[in-house]
Amino acid sequence: MTYQQLAEKAVAAKALAKAKYSNFRVGAALLADDGTVFIGCNIESAAFSPTCCAERTALVKAVSEGASGFTAIAVAGSPEGKEPDYCYPCGVCRQMLFEFGGDELDVIVTKTPEDFKVHKLGELLPHGFGHNDLKI
Ligand code: THU
Repeated sequence: MTYQQLAEKAVAAKALAKAKYSNFRVGAALLADDGTVFIGCNIESAAFSPTCCAERTALVKAVSEGASGFTAIAVAGSPEGKEPDYCYPCGVCRQMLFEFGGDELDVIVTKTPEDFKVHKLGELLPHGFGHNDLKI
């Protein structure tokens, strides 16, 4: 699985988004160490706060199916009917990705499958708070 292929899956997953309140569709494709890909989309709620971002949808699917180590996640998002720009994960998703991917996870911020940037999660969430901080 190349990062271009992972980016393609993130763009395709946008089509599944349930984003009728924001009209901002997001897709994510999470690559597990064994090569399995878990896709996710944002799922909004009329109560707003229960909304689940695409990255966390993918992560919750993966972890609940027994996946543990992760190599990369591609994220693609854009307002309905507008040109896509690079889509960066929100702060809450960065924290949850840190929980299961750590500093070395590659985050592929995707404009189109041919136009993406790769960041280490440690760049996007420096000095992340994690399980090591709970050990005294
Ligand atoms: N959203 C994501 O799915 N991922 C992010 O990292 C940023 C925001 C969603 C949440 C909401 O459904 C919509 O985008 C607008 O915030």
